Amino acid sequence: MTSMDTEGFQEARDLLASADVVSVLSGAGVSAESGVPTFRGEEGLWKSYQPEELATPQAFRRDPRLVWEWYDWRRGKIRACKPNPGHEALARFALGSRTVRIVTQNVDGLHEEAARKASGGNDPSPGLPLELHGSIFRVKCTSCTYKVPHRDPISADSLETLPKCPVCGSLLRPDVVWFGESLDAEILSEAFRVAQGSQVCLVVGTSALVHPAASVPLATRDSGGRIIEVNPTETPLSPLARVSLRGASGEVLPPLLEGLD
Ligand code: OAD
Ligand code: ZN
Repeated sequence: MTSMDTEGFQEARDLLASADVVSVLSGAGVSAESGVPTFRGEEGLWKSYQPEELATPQAFRRDPRLVWEWYDWRRGKIRACKPNPGHEALARFALGSRTVRIVTQNVDGLHEEAARKASGGNDPSPGLPLELHGSIFRVKCTSCTYKVPHRDPISADSLETLPKCPVCGSLLRPDVVWFGESLDAEILSEAFRVAQGSQVCLVVGTSALVHPAASVPLATRDSGGRIIEVNPTETPLSPLARVSLRGASGEVLPPLLEGLD
């Protein structure tokens, strides 16, 4: 069966075609076909690691070397990954004439890379996502407001080799949201504003278990818009979605968004 035969495919296309403003909420599943591990599920990252041992401020205070070692390993894996046809289709869609805003829970930078590629040297900004959970390729100071893009490998052999703030000398940490931390208030309210003002929220590759991100599509629905879900498996959002397309985003999104520029 091709994605075009999937139940609801034409309805989803019609909804998108008639929407002036579309929001997109993406999660780890959109990057799965690029080789970035998801968090949950059989091969999920949280299967082999205890999140509370690594992705918390307490863990970083207790053993910053171990936390940095894990992030350096993840950064290495992600650095080797390229955007897949799902990211590319979303980037083309966002750079088209329709108002489209991508909101992502991903920290891998692949939406941005796809947008830069799709823009062909023109302004990529309509395709740049709102990053709800930060970026794995940015670091910030644990004491002051210093924050900077950072892609290179770091050496996590000892405390001494970990990256330090050039302003105050404190340890730098990945600029990602950890368990028990709040999301950036401005980015979060922008995401809800965008979702509220859109006629369709396209939800792609998220288990929709982690809030507040998983509540973003509800803002579209509460203001009379529709949710379209793309995910191989059912999620808590499925019963609220007008259409659920059961498939991989790299296969479903290109035909779904084809020609809807
Ligand atoms: P999850 O790992 O929880 O969920 C991934 C989702 O992607 C699942 O629903 C899969 O069914 C789906 N999926 C798998 N392969 C897919 C494919 N090829 N195409 C489309 N969908 C596919 O990831 P998230 O929902 O993103 O937070 O997780 C949310 C947050 O939990 C993450 O941002 C992270 C984690 O704790 C923080 O680190 C703050
Ligand atoms: Zn500092």
